[in-house]
Amino acid sequence: MPIDIRKLRVTFAGEVTGIDCRRPLSSEEVAAIDAGMDRFAVLVFRDQPLDDERQLAFTRQFGALESYATPGHIRRREEQRLGPGIADFSNLDKDGNIMSAEDRVWFFKLGDRLWHSDSSFRPIPAKYSLLSGRVIPSWGADTEFADMRAAYDALDARTKAIVEDLVCEHSLIYSRAAIGFTDLTPEEIAAFQPVRQPLVRCHPATGRRSLFLASHAGAIVGWTVPEARVFLHELTEHATQREFVYKHKWQVGDLVMWDNRQTMHRATRFDRHEVRDVRRTTLAGEAAIPAKAGIGRAA
Ligand SMILES: [Fe+2]
Repeated sequence: MPIDIRKLRVTFAGEVTGIDCRRPLSSEEVAAIDAGMDRFAVLVFRDQPLDDERQLAFTRQFGALESYATPGHIRRREEQRLGPGIADFSNLDKDGNIMSAEDRVWFFKLGDRLWHSDSSFRPIPAKYSLLSGRVIPSWGADTEFADMRAAYDALDARTKAIVEDLVCEHSLIYSRAAIGFTDLTPEEIAAFQPVRQPLVRCHPATGRRSLFLASHAGAIVGWTVPEARVFLHELTEHATQREFVYKHKWQVGDLVMWDNRQTMHRATRFDRHEVRDVRRTTLAGEAAIPAKAGIGRAA
């Protein structure tokens, strides 16, 4: 059966059939998936029982893996359960036991329940993220995606003019403070210094504009903090209205691939006494293209 990408219930998620993610793709298949990502921004591949090695091999067909010397998390290498290149989004410790509710790694993970775009707190934010469902709890633990292109398009003209040139500061310090987790070490605070990102960004392939929001955004350059926070909160509420959201209900063997340049996402609640084992590979992106710089690019 040839590769096929079928639209899901919402306009920005597609389901890919006709490929086996465990085997090398043809250049035509890679191009079809890239085109599908440009069009939909979220692609679902069902029944893909990947191990870490195969997930990494599949991911590398779409570009270079994200790699940073500074941590995007608070677990040291020797405390991690999984090998290089695979980010652990489970609730398991390095020995495979469910982590304590008091574990600060767990506090840190709870921040992923807030809407965000992966690595927006880094100078070069992520391109695609690929999440593989290995063990799925009996309820909850969905992943919700919000289409930030549609959210931008639906802004009124006055708000579009306001956001056009705004620059936000993103940091893990802001998103973790939002859930009351402020107990960071001096090393973490130094590693999580805010970076600046345009509030409106253009997609490098399509030229489409998106709101570049995330719970990591905690300030707007030139604005007071309270005014910035209230405005970002209002924009986030606008951008995550049900009409812009796709909720993915996980099955074991699902692989979900999303474009962080045009979506936000969040995890939903589950019983933390059940195992959730989902593993992410992440593709390196490029510096976000501000709205003005995107003029003249492909529409
Ligand atoms: Fe994420």
